[in-house]
Amino acid sequence: MKKLNVNVDHVATLRQARLIDYPDPIDVIKLVQKSKANGIVMHLREDRRHIQDSDLLNFRKKIKFHFNLEIAPTIEMIKIANKIRPDVITLVPEKRMELTTEGGLDLLKNKSKINKVLSILNPKIKSMLFIDPDIKILDICKELKIYGVEINTGSYCEAKKIHIKKEVQKIKEASKYAKELGYFVAAGHGLNKYNISKIKNINEIEEYNIGHSIISDSIFNGIIKATNKIYDIINKR
Ligand code: PXP
Repeated sequence: MKKLNVNVDHVATLRQARLIDYPDPIDVIKLVQKSKANGIVMHLREDRRHIQDSDLLNFRKKIKFHFNLEIAPTIEMIKIANKIRPDVITLVPEKRMELTTEGGLDLLKNKSKINKVLSILNPKIKSMLFIDPDIKILDICKELKIYGVEINTGSYCEAKKIHIKKEVQKIKEASKYAKELGYFVAAGHGLNKYNISKIKNINEIEEYNIGHSIISDSIFNGIIKATNKIYDIINKR
């Protein structure tokens, strides 16, 4: 069976919009644990725009569930990972003005930096790199000690119709090559219940990390119930 990790960052986005303590991603993770999902993902961004350090500490205290922590490749972030001890970290590039992750790691530029940060990672934590579906980048991965790669599906998800085939092909080839190199192969970014159909049969992909579309869909699946609940409270005599 292929694995699914739910990224709960945007539960925290909703909370941070009001700077209050609700909705708490930890409460949502407890619900995700009751679903068929295999684990969760939280991305601690350098600007702390959604997930906070306290969420990671609360997770550690309260939850036992597969946890992939996404972080930028910096010493500060690796120190946090060593303290929190997720099962896996995924190193992801971050840009100051981004709305979300804009691409995979530029290993041509950052290989030695990534080597350096990985050298201080607790060896019990598995390390993955978020990379674009590009054979050249996978060739550079060979020089790093990593457990796996997460193939960036962002370009495929955003592609105009005429480019979709080409983007799927790139993901297929990269996944195949990554598997040949012995890596655990995951995929993610921008995936939803529609666009997953062209990606889900790529055998080499063992795991999908999906956030925004699941959190968005949960609104549609819950709005009637949530509205009726408060309506009934208002009208109860
Ligand atoms: N994988 C990585 C590396 C990401 O940065 C993100 C977004 O935080 C995701 C997967 C999930 O993307 P989405 O929220 O579009 O499903």
